[in-house]
Amino acid sequence: MNFELKPLDLIGAADEKADLLVLLVPKDFKPGKDDLSTLVASALKSGDLEAAAGKCLALYRPLQAAAVRVVLAQVADGGARATRSAVLAAVAAAKSPSLKKLVVCFAAPAQEDALRAAVTAVADATYSYTATKSKPQARTLQKATIGARNAPELASTFERAVAIVAGVELAKEWANRPANHATPQHLGEAAQALAQHAKISCEVLGPKEVAKLGMGSFMAVAQGSEQPLRFIVLRYSGAAKSKAPTVLVGKGITFDSGGISIKPAGEMDEMKFDMSGAASVLGTFKTLSLLKPAMNVVGLIPACENLINGRAVKPGDVVTSMSGQTIEILNTDAEGRLVLCDALTYAERFKPRVVVDIATLTGACVVALGAVRSGMFAANDALAASLSAAGDRSQDLCWRLPLDEEYAEGLKSNFADVANIGGRAGGAITAAKFLQRFTEKFPWAHLDIAGSAWKSGAAKGATGRPVGLLVEFLLAQAAEK
Ligand code: BES
Ligand code: MN
Ligand code: ZN
Repeated sequence: MNFELKPLDLIGAADEKADLLVLLVPKDFKPGKDDLSTLVASALKSGDLEAAAGKCLALYRPLQAAAVRVVLAQVADGGARATRSAVLAAVAAAKSPSLKKLVVCFAAPAQEDALRAAVTAVADATYSYTATKSKPQARTLQKATIGARNAPELASTFERAVAIVAGVELAKEWANRPANHATPQHLGEAAQALAQHAKISCEVLGPKEVAKLGMGSFMAVAQGSEQPLRFIVLRYSGAAKSKAPTVLVGKGITFDSGGISIKPAGEMDEMKFDMSGAASVLGTFKTLSLLKPAMNVVGLIPACENLINGRAVKPGDVVTSMSGQTIEILNTDAEGRLVLCDALTYAERFKPRVVVDIATLTGACVVALGAVRSGMFAANDALAASLSAAGDRSQDLCWRLPLDEEYAEGLKSNFADVANIGGRAGGAITAAKFLQRFTEKFPWAHLDIAGSAWKSGAAKGATGRPVGLLVEFLLAQAAEK
């Protein structure tokens, strides 16, 4: 989709020919003398445009504007969160099949985070999945103009937001594809396609190479499927070789049946989304290719299916990870940590500045945090703070959970160095404690996106999270030098 940033006040907005004009109105709106301002002021004064963020008032062909539909949307303090909810509500209120040209105009000068929120919310509200439809209902929206009086000073923020949208949409696209259209091999090809860009290179390892590396834990998960595994290594080189890279590790389970510890049938289809961590790494690389920050980033994706055939790994089997640690697989459904641990060990060779893994890892994280915030784990306070701040800036929120040693208690095994499950209580944390055993050589953080990566029910679909958070995190690092 085509985004444009334009200097617009309400006089300019009134002249915009569009299918839909959304006016983002703050609580303390200061009207000018023009007709549209007067209309907005009276809607506020009468209470017809309510004071809570996200409240909308929809108008049809009002004389005060050239647009066919006009929605006044309340943004209260004008912050990012309020702007996001206002744009989502306004587009939902006036979504028509013929929405081709949309103008979203800030009625007061736009804050940077709010502008970014407006762009990403427009994209979210108008995304449509087409890959496996025979008569695709392609997105009708051709052009979205974001208007703000202070547009000139927002150019770089706008550019960043548009690049994040491209990354988010790539992540959604891959996460949404069903497992038979998004196999480990397909993910490898998607990564190869990103390497068309001059600063990106890609290497895709198959079963033989992975065996040679000694990734016994990853191979144990993959062995129950006819689809051969892939281990994807992406590199973005925006700085000198000597500069230590940030490594992103994305869980790439293209379908999680649970294996022999099989999952219940209800909603099992949603386990096609179990490669959302991998999709977020692909999306982040897409954004890097557009923004070209001066830094180095490595993306690692262990990709395979967790299925059941005669060779499938069994509860009680003991495998040897690349780190040398042996693992007793007590539950084959706790497979994410088994593929991630070998990828984390592989990350050591890059002497990383920091490693962040991203995984739809535990149902327990969904219970703890729901869909609003991703779970975030980091032993280092500064690292945790910078991930939290990146989440706030992008409105791709996360929440820190603890890593006390006591939580590792349940991972003890009588037959191996460690077990792959640790009891029901604190399940998101015991999973993180398992991963932490493989991260001694670098600063590490873990994002559990089981609740945030997709929506269930009528709005079933990938969210593209946490691409926004990751990009903000990386750009802050690039700025740090
Ligand atoms: N991919 C799932 C986690 C998941 C479950 C994400 C539901 C989103 C919604 C993961 O591989 C898994 O099955 N985890 C188990 C771990 C358990 C066996 C210790 C879980 O959460 O039930
Ligand atoms: Mn599982
Ligand atoms: Zn899984």
